[in-house]
Amino acid sequence: MTNQLRIDRLRREGTLPREEMRRLLTDMTEEDAQVLYEAARSVREAAYGKNVYLRGLIEFTNYCRNDCLYCGIRRSNRKAQRYRLTEEEILDCCDKGYLLGFRTFVLQGGEDPFFTDEKICGIVSRIRARHPDCAVTLSIGERPRESYEAFFAAGAERYLLRHETIRPEHYRKLHPRNLTIENRVRCLRDLREIGFQVGCGMMVGSPFQTVEEVLDDLYFMREFRPHMIGIGPFIPHADTPFHDRPAGTLEETLHLLAIIRLMHPRVLLPATTALGTIHPLGREMGIQAGANVVMPNLSPAGVRDKYMLYDGKICTGDEAAECRRCMELRMEKIGYHVEVGRGDSLVNREPALYSGKEKT
Ligand code: 5AD
Ligand code: FES
Repeated sequence: MTNQLRIDRLRREGTLPREEMRRLLTDMTEEDAQVLYEAARSVREAAYGKNVYLRGLIEFTNYCRNDCLYCGIRRSNRKAQRYRLTEEEILDCCDKGYLLGFRTFVLQGGEDPFFTDEKICGIVSRIRARHPDCAVTLSIGERPRESYEAFFAAGAERYLLRHETIRPEHYRKLHPRNLTIENRVRCLRDLREIGFQVGCGMMVGSPFQTVEEVLDDLYFMREFRPHMIGIGPFIPHADTPFHDRPAGTLEETLHLLAIIRLMHPRVLLPATTALGTIHPLGREMGIQAGANVVMPNLSPAGVRDKYMLYDGKICTGDEAAECRRCMELRMEKIGYHVEVGRGDSLVNREPALYSGKEKT
């Protein structure tokens, strides 16, 4: 079978047998890639048109109790300058964002015990009270089910928690021993059962990742049916154990974005900051390969350069208004339209295949 036939079949059936998917991933020519992107664009446009959804990212703490080997804000990185935004600063970011047209706020942080469930719930409910027409997304890592229930009750409706890699042996090579893929998947299932719109995802080209890991990740996500999928290239950070590992590539990330779009026609799929970091037009190319979300930074300018998950991160010197404007211009230049409004996922309007009981 040729790759063009594989792409047709992937588009029609939403998946491919493992051997065919492996071939597609490993033997992709430039011409195949163009056919793949075109298919992904048309599938995305059938569901979402030319709209690109905006999410305002607020990086509210870079304290983290974890020690993920790839991450620049890992606990062992003594060189990271730590900061926490106050509740007032977070609300202030949302107010500014609201005036700029944002209707979804993503509160992202390290796993910081200072922000107890009570504090998080207080922040979420204050944002919802001030901006009832906005959605709040949390991205604050693993917590017990009861915490997630409390966040949902306080008004958070969406949660991002990348699974990072579904293979246990690979997961163990990227994380310290106290973190397990089993607990990560437990969190994702709890979140989903509670009623959150859930996002998972992984880095492309992370250390020790081979095509077999990527295939497992693709089939896991196909079974889990997340509302959102976050993928971006791995980029080394100088003060981590993976400082000398090569970054994931632009091409591989674009191929995967397009394949994910064909497997999940209605998923919310961001063109990530990491993609914009490895190439000046990375986010634009991501949109043209099937992504439909961008997440400009709303964090206060004074702390942005401290939320360094990887080296070279873009947008660390800009104000929220500049990022918003910049993004709009970038999207218009490639023929897309930045959509204000909550931009709810269309995924939950399909019958769920996922029963919550499958094994991984
Ligand atoms: N390169 C790229 N992405 C990274 N992340 C963490 N460290 C890096 C890195 N060095 C990603 C992880 C995490 C998300 C918030 O950022 O996938 O889930
Ligand atoms: Fe931040 Fe362009 S999106 S400066």
